[in-house]
Amino acid sequence: MTLIEDLKRIEGEALARIAQTEDLASLDAARVEFLGKKGSLTGVLRGLGALSTEERPAVGKVSNEVRQAIEAAIEERKAMLAQAELAERMSAGAVDVTLPGRKRLPGRAHLISQITAEVVDIFAGLGYQVAEGPEVELAHYNFTALNHPPTHPARAATDTFYVSDAGGSGREGDPESDVLLRTHTSPVQVRVLEQQKPPVYVIVPGRVYRRDIADPSHLPQFHQIEGLAVEEGITFGDLKGTLDHVCRELFGRDRKTRFRPHFFPFTEPSAEVDVSCGICVGSGCRFCKNTGWLEILGCGMVDPNVFGYVDIDPERHVGFAFGMGVERIAALRYDIPDLRMLVEGDMRFLRQF
Ligand code: PHE
Repeated sequence: MTLIEDLKRIEGEALARIAQTEDLASLDAARVEFLGKKGSLTGVLRGLGALSTEERPAVGKVSNEVRQAIEAAIEERKAMLAQAELAERMSAGAVDVTLPGRKRLPGRAHLISQITAEVVDIFAGLGYQVAEGPEVELAHYNFTALNHPPTHPARAATDTFYVSDAGGSGREGDPESDVLLRTHTSPVQVRVLEQQKPPVYVIVPGRVYRRDIADPSHLPQFHQIEGLAVEEGITFGDLKGTLDHVCRELFGRDRKTRFRPHFFPFTEPSAEVDVSCGICVGSGCRFCKNTGWLEILGCGMVDPNVFGYVDIDPERHVGFAFGMGVERIAALRYDIPDLRMLVEGDMRFLRQF
């Protein structure tokens, strides 16, 4: 019966060894040592052939039990070690709560919105009120009531986006009822004067559209701020003083401005105001088309014909009006070399403002 004793001894050794293993590799080494081809259990079973036929079944039965006990112990230990290894890996890869968090950058207004708010603020300080009008406009307000004759070139479908089909075929549409995307904020002058009686002081920010190809100084869609003042006894001097004040507020005293005689159908006399180019400081560059100056607004005294459309007595009331391009103001203030940067949505650019 020494074989049975050997088997029991091997079982005891094996279970003790398995309990001591600390990782899957040493557990596998233990399995080979006891159950492998050259293992101790296999060695004992080799002696089975020398036994008598009476002894053999009892020894065979014990050896099976020992093998099963060892195998069960290995499986149990394996599951335990695998669990422990997983737990260790998890704690090693856990979130490091001492790391700085991921910042969510706060949003901000687009530069065009910022400047619009600033200009509106300056005029609010002068007592102006904000008015708005539709971007999809009637030709009546955009052109006719602003004293544009039916043949005026700005009415052409090559210059203006028409919504109605008639306008799309050129000047054959109805100069009154054609529907278009407004080409300037000036139609709001007419809409305001239909609703309000003088004294009127309004500032009108808004989006406008022209059939231009985008280039460094043009966009087919841009923003204007219109101003209109109507009262008794207003002069061109009031207009000039107002715009000088605004230019100083917007650009600072180191930038020069100039008034240049110009023509607009709805103002008489008219002028364009230029600000000196901050990119080339007057020497001429691509942005200012080599003139050293950049046009930022058109202005003038309200043409009496416009008052005729809104039933205001031109013998009694006088007015001045102006319209400035917001993108141009932005470009001038921050020396932006290409207006297209304002609509490309590149946050590396926009975040600077
Ligand atoms: N509406 C003109 C333009 O877009 C600007 C302007 C406004 C001129 C008011 C005179 C008076 O060019």
